[in-house]
Amino acid sequence: MIEPIDIPSSIDREPIPDDVASQLAIARQRIETFQDRWDRPQIEQFVAADYEMVYQVLCWTLKSQPMIGRRFLEWGCGFAVVSAIASYLQFDSIGIEAEPELLHEGRKTIEQWDQPVELVQGNFLPLGSDSLADDPTLPSLGHQVPCGYSAIDSELSDFALVYSYPWPGEGDFHADVFSRFASPGGLLLQFCGPNEMCLWRKTR
Ligand SMILES: C[S@@+](CC[C@H](N)C(=O)[O-])C[C@H]1O[C@@H](n2cnc3c(N)ncnc32)[C@H](O)[C@@H]1O
Repeated sequence: MIEPIDIPSSIDREPIPDDVASQLAIARQRIETFQDRWDRPQIEQFVAADYEMVYQVLCWTLKSQPMIGRRFLEWGCGFAVVSAIASYLQFDSIGIEAEPELLHEGRKTIEQWDQPVELVQGNFLPLGSDSLADDPTLPSLGHQVPCGYSAIDSELSDFALVYSYPWPGEGDFHADVFSRFASPGGLLLQFCGPNEMCLWRKTR
């Protein structure tokens, strides 16, 4: 079972350090260039979050919420900007991504931020979680890549904070997977679309 935690509406007043702001500007530029490319097929599932907002919410969460540890996991890390932010904020940060090309870009981000982040190619859905979906066409399903957790020798329940940016219509599925497989006390942070983030704690 997961319970929602209110994120204050004043979250946009949380200061963003200059070094973070300039790293985010560089990342945004790289992502735009990647998405504007004309010579290769688009990776349709990759959409960038509002990283300033993610930074602000992560800072507030660290200051205001009890945590069961420092391990952070980004589900479908794409360019791994959020994984880099989490590491900057002193989390032990890991990103799992299905698409090798995005993982390649994610590694460039980590190099640029000079942060110790582990990125792995794989499926962020724990084995057996597909059955929690009531729609077999959800974009998170059907990635033909090995389970990401075996690659990092961990379980979803080993993480104190999980971040996801679900495709529209699959937010409940991500929350259900977290509710079923995470550790009690663990937090799930979702980017739900422009100006909207949600935070839950697994209670039991
Ligand atoms: C909406 S993008 C979000 C990217 C990044 N987390 C962010 O917030 O900017 C979703 C990402 O999840 C990846 N993805 C979707 N389903 C996945 C799965 N089951 N396992 C691993 N990666 C997945 C996609 O390739 C895509 O990069």
